[in-house]
Amino acid sequence: MKTAKFWRLNMGDMQILPGSRNRPTMMKPMWIILLASFVIMFITCAYIYRSKNSTACNVFSYRRCKPMANWLPPVSAREYTDDEIASHVVFRDILNSPVVVPKNPKIAFMFLTPGSLPFEKLWDNFFQGHEGKFSVYVHASKTKPVHQSHYFVKRDIRSDQVVWGKMSMVDAERRLLSNALQDPNNQHFILLSDSCVPLYNFDYIFDYLMYTNISFVDCFRDPGPVGNGRYSEHMLPEVEIKDFRKGAQWFSMKRKHALIVMADHLYYSKFHAHCEPGVDGKNCIPDEHYLPTFFTIVDPGGIANWSVTHVDWSERKWHPKSYKTQDITYELLKNITSIDVSVHVTSDEEKEVQRWPCLWNGIQKPCYLFARKFSPETLDNLLQLFSNYSSP
Ligand SMILES: *[C@@H]1O[C@H](CO)[C@@H](O)[C@H](O)[C@H]1NC(C)=O
Ligand SMILES: *[C@@H]1O[C@H](CO)[C@@H](O)[C@H](O)[C@H]1NC(C)=O
Ligand SMILES: *[C@@H]1O[C@H](CO)[C@@H](O)[C@H](O)[C@H]1NC(C)=O
Ligand SMILES: *[C@@H]1O[C@H](CO)[C@@H](O)[C@H](O)[C@H]1NC(C)=O
Repeated sequence: MKTAKFWRLNMGDMQILPGSRNRPTMMKPMWIILLASFVIMFITCAYIYRSKNSTACNVFSYRRCKPMANWLPPVSAREYTDDEIASHVVFRDILNSPVVVPKNPKIAFMFLTPGSLPFEKLWDNFFQGHEGKFSVYVHASKTKPVHQSHYFVKRDIRSDQVVWGKMSMVDAERRLLSNALQDPNNQHFILLSDSCVPLYNFDYIFDYLMYTNISFVDCFRDPGPVGNGRYSEHMLPEVEIKDFRKGAQWFSMKRKHALIVMADHLYYSKFHAHCEPGVDGKNCIPDEHYLPTFFTIVDPGGIANWSVTHVDWSERKWHPKSYKTQDITYELLKNITSIDVSVHVTSDEEKEVQRWPCLWNGIQKPCYLFARKFSPETLDNLLQLFSNYSSP
């Protein structure tokens, strides 16, 4: 071997050197050469070893060091950025920490509304008798609400303007989450709009949400124009198109998921910088893409992929169907509560229909606990029907 020859040659040179006087100065280059030889030998051996076992954990791929047994080829070979490594270690720690359920767990009902809530009376009926098992938060983005139910009085949080399709919508969601997280008893967090109504009584909804480890975040892959068509390559390298997802904004979340949303700066700032409808090349709608994409990257198994809030898109217009007084029948509400398969349709030419059963801890159950959009005029009919339809 070349290195070996080099080594011997130097040893030979050493032997013919005169001793004493020159010795200290001559020792230095010799040690440097010795060291260099070792390094070269080590690199050569390591290189040969690596080319034979390119999948092994070795000095060249310490980032992806894993035991051989569960090693899988990486989907993308790219190196994580500093921000990704830092963010992911925080997310992992929050997700892996044991869930300590407080003595009196509560559900946070977070209302995102422009002003007064037309269904406060209905919610009042719904909450009655369940004090201590829920908390209410109201984010009114336009006008200060006038409250009709004492469950809502003094529950307004500091709010700001919200523009649909802009990051201000996500900011309002985060504002609600950060207020609701302040109460350590809140274990599950539901985002509701002013046009949402409950489909079941309190106990059913409480048990449904509390006794599962899953968050109900709507999420599907849409290769069409209003799905991946809204992706921007400016989000690279952290947000790849393979992880880009779409879903309705009306989520419900476990506490640990609410915490990782609050801890996220990396993905938030990507969407903040590259989503602004109407601006060229920034077509994405943050409230429909940020959370589904975030969870797909960070904890895909932790979300159900459907929302527990029903909405009727069957008219295929820009806005979902808004129920009027004459629509409010026992049959309509029973129809909605009988749905136990979640359906998503892609926006490309194929209009692929993605269906999956609504599995709750492995059991197929009704998908929806809430529904929208109901016009304010439907209140009286809903109040009349409520005691009937809300018992499962
Ligand atoms: C939720 O997770 C905890 C701890 O990880 C586990 O003990 C519990 O059985 C899980 N509950 C359900 C309903 O899956
Ligand atoms: C939701 O979809 C992701 C794929 O995007 C999948 O990994 C995950 O298991 C799904 N969640 C459930 C609860 O099935
Ligand atoms: C309820 O569902 C049935 C069967 O899908 C349908 O024929 C009927 O029109 C629905 N009724 C209402 C009020 O939505
Ligand atoms: C409520 O349910 C009862 C018993 O099923 C029925 O007799 C009654 O007509 C229902 N009321 C309404 C408003 O549908």
